[in-house]
Amino acid sequence: MIKKEIIDQIREQTDIVQIIGEYLPLKKSGKHFRTLCPFHTEKSPSFYVNQERQIYHCFGCGAGGSVITFLMQYEKLPFPDAIKKLAGKLGIIIETEATSYKYQALYDANEFAADFYTRNLEKSKAASAYLTHRKISIETIKRFRIGYATGGNLLLQNAKKQGLTEEVLIKAGLAVKKDDGYHDWFYNRITFPVFSISGKVIGFNARGLDENSQPKYINTLETPVFKKGENLFGLFQAKNYLYSKTPILVEGNFDLLSLVENGINNVIAPLGTALTPHQAQLIRRYANQLIIAFDGDSAGEAATLRTIETLLKTGIDPHIALLPTSFDPDKYIKTFGKDKFDLLINNNLDFVDFILKISNTQTVTEKKLCLKQIINLVSLIEEKIGQELYINKISNIFHIAKENLLNQIQKTSTTSAKINQKADQIRTMPLSLLEEQVLSLIISNANYASIAQKDLPIKYFNANVHAVVQTAYDICNTENFTSAKLIDSLEQSELKKLVADLSFHLKIVPKENEFLRKLNEFKAAWLYQSMKAAQEKGANQLLRELTIEHYNIKKKLNQMRSKK
Ligand code: CTP
Ligand code: MN
Repeated sequence: MIKKEIIDQIREQTDIVQIIGEYLPLKKSGKHFRTLCPFHTEKSPSFYVNQERQIYHCFGCGAGGSVITFLMQYEKLPFPDAIKKLAGKLGIIIETEATSYKYQALYDANEFAADFYTRNLEKSKAASAYLTHRKISIETIKRFRIGYATGGNLLLQNAKKQGLTEEVLIKAGLAVKKDDGYHDWFYNRITFPVFSISGKVIGFNARGLDENSQPKYINTLETPVFKKGENLFGLFQAKNYLYSKTPILVEGNFDLLSLVENGINNVIAPLGTALTPHQAQLIRRYANQLIIAFDGDSAGEAATLRTIETLLKTGIDPHIALLPTSFDPDKYIKTFGKDKFDLLINNNLDFVDFILKISNTQTVTEKKLCLKQIINLVSLIEEKIGQELYINKISNIFHIAKENLLNQIQKTSTTSAKINQKADQIRTMPLSLLEEQVLSLIISNANYASIAQKDLPIKYFNANVHAVVQTAYDICNTENFTSAKLIDSLEQSELKKLVADLSFHLKIVPKENEFLRKLNEFKAAWLYQSMKAAQEKGANQLLRELTIEHYNIKKKLNQMRSKK
């Protein structure tokens, strides 16, 4: 680990304009510098560098971040190497910190377990025979680090010999405490490690060896480093293939491994959950298209529909490979072979054709129903050109004028926006905008961040920006807090981009009393929404508490206004 202070020192001493200028021809344009974006193809420049805030942002593809992110993205360097490169330019000597990393103990425990389970697999005839029976080769077993958890609390016993405590194993989700003491969490199961993007083992998904073990799969319970809905099985192994091949999403671990056995490496699986928005975001880093290849049964079809929705919302164009009833990809490729499977993938349908295929469209009523379903999905597409292409397509299929469709789509989008925001009269502007403004100020200004840290708990924010707010609160009182520093402290690249984007668009930093007013307006709007929700649910006690809190904030706001 490179010391935090060194990273800060490097960030403070480098100039983003100079560094990016070594790679790209920057031209001064107003307050900023601009050039053609190196991360997507374009004809007129929409890549901007903001010297004052030391960040870059592309208005075309949304790329953005700090000087460190730029080097990582442009030179495809991992974080430490980007730091080393910058340090080299500045003549700074890098000291490394002994791994005092917050979650290192959890990574260590998981790494130990992965290693231990793989060694157990070699010793277990039954487990090895099972994998052979499922046609998983030694090569794949090694690459995915597939193992076997025997049971008899062997993991606990052996881990202790290595100095790993019961507490750490419990925290890592590998052991549990019961009335009669500590137990291994996994036993008599084939173990599939789940890897982080950078290849660290963060948890496991494990299949019972006995056909009738219930449940068939279990996974590591939630830990600080493993959340099932935030990871994908196989992404680490697939990621380098996804730049050149559209990812294929399958349901089961064995579906994935079977395809890998056949040399199809661009496969990922969602660990048994319906694809979550978080997982979709992860995929979006690598691809803007995806082929869903779920089981050919009604459950698979229902899962496909939900997945289409999530993908469209994330900006990924969903395509669907149709499997015959009672086939999953594993069974299909084993029965018909790779060529037939490739054909199935190549014959994928876009989501409109998929809906048409599974719907009845004989009568007018059926047609209307089907069209409605399609329109609901099309209205989720944010990118206007992509949306228009689908509108043209539907217009041709149903023989309906484009204007009528557009009209309907606009209606659908506004109603769903209304439902999301539960529009209310007291708010001066929509919550999302207010939230965006408050967030922009927090991430760009140390003083406002520390005010918010005391006065604005993160619950007020949308769950998907919690990590941003939390990190800002964590580091706002350290020296030289800037949005660039925040970017480098965040782990997810989507969030880094978001911060760069917000910071770039922040034109004016208002005076403190104006910020306080915004902060309180934001709180009031949030409380009002919560009041409505509490009322709907009949949560009267909560409603009373919220009402009082809301009243106090409104009073505060009125006082502020009269002072002005
Ligand atoms: N899964 C889970 N918990 C369960 C069942 C399934 O987490 N109780 C997850 C597993 O990751 C599994 C995936 O959901 O791989 C799909 O389930 P299924 O199709 O039943 O699994 P397969 O991997 O296809 O298993 P198999 O072919 O051995 O039946
Ligand atoms: Mn299966």
